[in-house]
Amino acid sequence: MGARLLRLGFSLLLLSPGALADVTIYQTGNQAAFATATASGAVYSGVAAYNPRTLIPPPLPSASVLKTVPVRLQNSGTTGMSIKQKGSFLGFSIEMSVTNQVLGKNSTLIQVPFLNLMANLQQRAGSVMVRVGGNTQESAVLVESLDNGRILEKNLSGVTGTTQTPPLDFTTDLLYLMRNISSFVNVHWFLGVPWFVTTPFDTSIIPAADLILGDFLLGLQAGNEPDMYVLHNHRAETYGPYDYVGEFGSFLTQLDATGADPTGRAKRILIGPNIANWAWTLEQVWDTGFVDMFTENLAFLAGEKYPHNNCAAMFNTGNPIIDPQVMLPRYLTHNAHKGLLAPYLNSTAYAQRVNKPFLMFETNTASCGGFNGISDSFTAALWGLDYALQMAHSNFSGAMFHIGGQNVFYNPFTSPPTNESTFHQWTVGPLYYTVLAMAEALGPSNQSQVLDLPIEGLSEFTPIYAIYEGGVPKRVAVFNYLDDPTGASDVSAVISIAGATLPTAVKVKYLAAKTVVQKGNITWAGQTFGDNFASDGRPMGTEVIQTVPCDFVAQTCTIKVPAPGFALVFLADDAQTENAGAPSATFATTAHTKTRNTVTVDESMLATSNGNRFADHELAGTSRAPSGALHAVQAPLLLAGLAIGAVITLLGRGV
Ligand SMILES: *[C@@H]1O[C@H](CO)[C@@H](O)[C@H](O)[C@H]1NC(C)=O
Ligand SMILES: *[C@@H]1O[C@H](CO)[C@@H](O)[C@H](O)[C@H]1NC(C)=O
Ligand SMILES: *[C@@H]1O[C@H](CO)[C@@H](O)[C@H](O)[C@H]1NC(C)=O
Ligand SMILES: *[C@@H]1O[C@H](CO)[C@@H](O)[C@H](O)[C@H]1NC(C)=O
Ligand SMILES: *[C@@H]1O[C@H](CO)[C@@H](O)[C@H](O)[C@H]1NC(C)=O
Ligand SMILES: *[C@@H]1O[C@H](CO)[C@@H](O)[C@H](O)[C@H]1NC(C)=O
Ligand SMILES: *[C@@H]1O[C@H](CO)[C@@H](O)[C@H](O)[C@H]1NC(C)=O
Ligand SMILES: *[C@@H]1O[C@H](CO)[C@@H](O)[C@H](O)[C@H]1NC(C)=O
Repeated sequence: MGARLLRLGFSLLLLSPGALADVTIYQTGNQAAFATATASGAVYSGVAAYNPRTLIPPPLPSASVLKTVPVRLQNSGTTGMSIKQKGSFLGFSIEMSVTNQVLGKNSTLIQVPFLNLMANLQQRAGSVMVRVGGNTQESAVLVESLDNGRILEKNLSGVTGTTQTPPLDFTTDLLYLMRNISSFVNVHWFLGVPWFVTTPFDTSIIPAADLILGDFLLGLQAGNEPDMYVLHNHRAETYGPYDYVGEFGSFLTQLDATGADPTGRAKRILIGPNIANWAWTLEQVWDTGFVDMFTENLAFLAGEKYPHNNCAAMFNTGNPIIDPQVMLPRYLTHNAHKGLLAPYLNSTAYAQRVNKPFLMFETNTASCGGFNGISDSFTAALWGLDYALQMAHSNFSGAMFHIGGQNVFYNPFTSPPTNESTFHQWTVGPLYYTVLAMAEALGPSNQSQVLDLPIEGLSEFTPIYAIYEGGVPKRVAVFNYLDDPTGASDVSAVISIAGATLPTAVKVKYLAAKTVVQKGNITWAGQTFGDNFASDGRPMGTEVIQTVPCDFVAQTCTIKVPAPGFALVFLADDAQTENAGAPSATFATTAHTKTRNTVTVDESMLATSNGNRFADHELAGTSRAPSGALHAVQAPLLLAGLAIGAVITLLGRGV
């Protein structure tokens, strides 16, 4: 797409299936990117999302690493491949309390960078899954209206219970905002039903979501990490899987009794059990008969898992503070994913038997905001992509990377603080590049099957996957987690396909940065979203797709992957063009607002509610925002949704 994309940057693909309307949106200027004020190394006192401190790349392993790797594929008869996967496998989970920063101020002021970020993915995968929820969904209350037209507000007078978590009030305009986004980009949504109080359940979100989102509502989460309810004092000590299953039944009974599900849709799109594998195992839930009992009601099965937590450092829990430098190597090995996902294999097999998709509903590098230098560096991009491919290989059907506020390190993308919104743009994090590359690795066919290749002698630092369609290898994904600027640790994947004649050349796209610890300026096929505050959601630069000639005599194609780096090899031209085929669908910024944020969701609330297991427990009530936290956050670049018709000019498509 590259230059074409930039030229087409002003065009917009309206997403009702089939309906295509390219439009130009006038640019208002003010697109300049400002470098961060704080130089690396200086003492940084700002919020986590823009912390420039970098780590030191880990030393090279002492054991020798297989650097010329034979990748022997078969044109048919491959065994062990995953179930069929969609290009939209990876999506985002947005903490409910930050939706006004990420999605827009209200239903008529939508964040343009968000639309662009989704449009980039839609172009590659066809659609995007976004979950609005997290810990803050559990006590969210739908209210008639809020002061000053706000769509969200923390109700401080509603603070109750030992955790002191204030309920989140929201209006239906949040749902209209979501619905309006889906008219521009093909985003489908997940929401959650508040589950803390069950007698009675507050079901008011259900008819509203059903009415407003309609088919754009993919599913409703029944409880968020219920196996942590006891820890968080939301249930009695004895609360176990059978109690959760009982509540699920009671919820359905109440839906019927109150008429809260007039269309009957909600009862068919529920998601459970969403546990964190903390106090219960998934098997304990399956063994209650949960899925058989509620098979008509469950559209998805799901769990949530973060590999580590950074709660001690973020919130002074008193536990030992973990040094990110020590953690770094744990994110630069394929073994991390194998270990994390092993306990899920039984359940993804079970999900296949009961014919339900199994989702990783919420995940990221580490709970409690992630690790500085890991979650926001190239390390996270490689880690996330290997993790995603490993989940696909392991028969998950999708996974969502969590997004918190300004006080976390792990956001795939972050809007700037309100007071800087007129001169700063968004910050695109490493995990966004992960999602972009994953969308291309799987492609839009919905037929992709992933296999973590069992190559003899392969090191944990150079995992290689093949992606098949109809049993035929279409793409190969090659990682190099090593960090070695000398070039001595570059890896060469020597690809051959038994039963097929190789093309004369293959196309390759690289995910690249100079080192695993680099923050900002990551490139995917030569394009970037820049450094902090540099992005309006559209890729910058010219797309670079390498053409690598194959050896006709040897019948091999050798792909070099730098240390560090990732290469996606397109074995057939159709495997590449099907990805890049769609016209770009991006949005220029039409309207800036200097309106100060009137929404008073406290940043500490956001930071402690990022799906982290401890937040709601010892932290949320007493936590203060980490020093330097911003309390007024409103993204800068807003599109006047209603006005869009007035500022767009129809153009021919294609350019
Ligand atoms: C959204 O906010 C803008 C700016 O405050 C306001 O003009 C507009 O009326 C709001 N839209 C809705 C639907 O409340
Ligand atoms: C805030 O919470 C209090 C106590 O639960 C409740 O009485 C009040 O109605 C809530 N306010 C809003 C705007 O929801
Ligand atoms: C957005 O939502 C509002 C409801 O506030 C609706 O009136 C409007 O038509 C929607 N705008 C777009 C562009 O879909
Ligand atoms: C796999 O799941 C089934 C069904 O819940 C359970 O009975 C079995 O014990 C599990 N196996 C392992 C190895 O955990
Ligand atoms: C994924 O499912 C397929 C089809 O059932 C199976 O052959 C494969 O072994 C599974 N993969 C894993 C890692 O469990
Ligand atoms: C893939 O699946 C989605 C729905 O999950 C559907 O909208 C889309 O048309 C499918 N794509 C293809 C190529 O079949
Ligand atoms: C990112 O690129 C910009 C523009 O070229 C440059 O000013 C900045 O120093 C780069 N940052 C890093 C971390 O490489
Ligand atoms: C914006 O507000 C934050 C927090 O008050 C402050 O640290 C930052 O310097 C402000 N930015 C500008 C440009 O005033």
